[in-house]
Amino acid sequence: MRDADLSLILLDWYDRNARDLPWRVPPDLSRNGIRPDPYRVWLSEVMLQQTTVAAVKSYFERFTRLWPNVNELARAEDAAVMAEWAGLGYYARARNLLKCARVVSGDLGGVFPSTAEGLRQLPGIGPYTAAAIAAIAFGARETVVDGNVERVMARLFDEHTPLPKAKPILTTHAASLTPPKRTGDYAQAVMDLGATICTPRSPSCGICPWRDPCLARQRGTAAILPGKEPKKAKPVRFGFAYVGRRGDGAWLLETRPERGLLGGMLGWPGSDWTDEPDHDPPAEADWRVVGGEARHTFTHFHLRLQILTAELEVSVSPAAGHFIAARDFRPSALPTVMRKVFDLAAPSFPPIEKPAAKR
Ligand code: ADE
Repeated sequence: MRDADLSLILLDWYDRNARDLPWRVPPDLSRNGIRPDPYRVWLSEVMLQQTTVAAVKSYFERFTRLWPNVNELARAEDAAVMAEWAGLGYYARARNLLKCARVVSGDLGGVFPSTAEGLRQLPGIGPYTAAAIAAIAFGARETVVDGNVERVMARLFDEHTPLPKAKPILTTHAASLTPPKRTGDYAQAVMDLGATICTPRSPSCGICPWRDPCLARQRGTAAILPGKEPKKAKPVRFGFAYVGRRGDGAWLLETRPERGLLGGMLGWPGSDWTDEPDHDPPAEADWRVVGGEARHTFTHFHLRLQILTAELEVSVSPAAGHFIAARDFRPSALPTVMRKVFDLAAPSFPPIEKPAAKR
């Protein structure tokens, strides 16, 4: 089948089956040339780097409610943006998001560049994200290749070279199928096909618009594609986290340094994360070990944190961190590993007595 016929079949499927997502313009509008807001496309694509559509939706809706355009986001406080990002992971994305908003708002008059090349100059926008924004928001003929697209191409062309070595081959296939028009819809159509039909396990080949031309379906190889080089086992690192609460209910937290893991995020003071961490408490107190440990997996290692808790004197001056009043502390502003620490530590603290209500 010719490339043009393959892409037309997929666009036709997208017209009937596109997922309804908050950053999209539905196909009945976009096929008539109506394009989505570049700010919303940019924000969604940055959130969707390494994160699923299901996880991103509610964050996207909260961000766009708080900061409806790039100028508003550029004016936001760093800590407020980091707190809203908490739980999405890969926190460098949030720091770059703010940097990018400030460049677009401050230097570019609030207008996003319309080409992939122009977009790539901005903080946090790599080749994939630049291509996606250029295609979806500006209709540029760019090839967008994410994990979904790689899987779909590997199966359609029955390509057995394992990833990541297969990337250039799969990109060439994806590029040859990208149509001259409706590039944004086409890119999102392949993503939707990968997310809803051509899934990693048990693909629904029977209802796939590409079931006839798909070589993996003809040859019965879909289940083993794409091949992947074995991943290196992740090492385990250890650490200590100190959860301290002052008599007035304020929690001892720290803002982590900009550089490094969870940079700029709020967290509990603690040790380095190593094979054998050294640890000094952040303040003098009767620290007690909590049963259980907080476990979390990062890109390059598994982490296990021992947790210590203490009630702190109101007069204490901590060696690390700062106090956040009980009424200003939102556990949802913590990155996931620090939230796990809090959930394990919280039962060690008795409820704070509220002043009796007036009768
Ligand atoms: N993953 C990354 N970008 C996406 C988009 N625009 N639609 C659906 N899934 C995506």
